Amino acid sequence: MAVVRLLNEDTTLKTHEEIVSGLARHGIDYERWQPAHPVADDAPAEEILQAYSREIDELKIRGGYVTADVIDVNPATPGLDEMLAKFDREHWHDEDEVRFIIAGHGRFHIHSTTGEVLAIEVEAGDLIRVPRGTLHWFDLCGDRRIRAIRLFQDKAGWTPHYTESRIDEGL
Ligand SMILES: [Fe+2]
Repeated sequence: MAVVRLLNEDTTLKTHEEIVSGLARHGIDYERWQPAHPVADDAPAEEILQAYSREIDELKIRGGYVTADVIDVNPATPGLDEMLAKFDREHWHDEDEVRFIIAGHGRFHIHSTTGEVLAIEVEAGDLIRVPRGTLHWFDLCGDRRIRAIRLFQDKAGWTPHYTESRIDEGL
């Protein structure tokens, strides 16, 4: 399950219910998904997408997503630091950022319209949906590994627009 910290209040949301409602206050959707049948986290992408096809299809209808793929990065991925440097500064997209975590970890920071900043550490089984226009940034965790299903309305919309606020520095 995700670990969610409210940085302004220095508190941590602990239960599933607290996380779902605490994130919903800031427009972020959070769910836990179970595969339709057991699937290894290193299975081919097609098997992963098949195991979660019910949830993916439901989400496509709800959010207008047209494609799903599987991204996989680890410490041996060429250009990993350059890739991460695109997303570890505060930015927003014209497109929702939707991720279902298969393996590894990631940390999203959300800069809410309320002024609050949330740190969300996701792990296997977590679905997070960051709506278009939401100020956020992303980094890997200590294992520098993440394998995740991504859903897109239009891949062209998934370009970061940077705010240059520097709020991300030191967080
Ligand atoms: Fe992003």
